[in-house]
Amino acid sequence: MDFGKYVRTVPDFPKKGILFYDLMPLFGSSEGFPRLIETIAESLPTKTLAHVAGIEARGFIVGAALANRLGIGFVPIRKKGKLPGAVRELSYALEYGQDTIAIQDGAIGKGARVLLVDDLLATGGTAKAALDLLEQVGADVLETVFVAELIGLGGRERLAGRKIRSLLTYHVSE
Ligand code: PRP
Ligand code: MG
Repeated sequence: MDFGKYVRTVPDFPKKGILFYDLMPLFGSSEGFPRLIETIAESLPTKTLAHVAGIEARGFIVGAALANRLGIGFVPIRKKGKLPGAVRELSYALEYGQDTIAIQDGAIGKGARVLLVDDLLATGGTAKAALDLLEQVGADVLETVFVAELIGLGGRERLAGRKIRSLLTYHVSE
């Protein structure tokens, strides 16, 4: 299926000069979304996974649906201050300032096989931080899957050495 037909571009969002790739029409499509989840599920390594991990917020949409399809649990990687109890946090640089993500202690056992999912790969800062965090808790991340990748923003380069895959790719300029 051509998932790209469900992707909408929105000029000047979230700020002037940015062309935003909006995946919500794909997630909202009764033909497109189930097919998207099925396509990812069918393409995964045959090794049994313990969890799908997804990155707040848009990674939850794909990650939770995929975990359900696979019959396994979903582990959220959340923005700072949202998860109760003991957590491990990791701060990472943004274009301006920094952000912090967190995972609950014990959510993933040491050596557990995990698939990481997010909607979009742009600069790779978010995914790199999530992968570093998963590594710190001892997860065995088999692969990271993105629905879409913006080529030209350095994401793939930043994630060099990690196994990553994107269903849709778009060439953009910085
Ligand atoms: C967006 C997107 C990815 C990330 C990609 O999330 O959903 O998670 O940016 O950018 P990067 O590769 O440059 O790190 P964002 O935190 O903006 O918003 P969300 O909470 O809606 O997912
Ligand atoms: Mg996000």
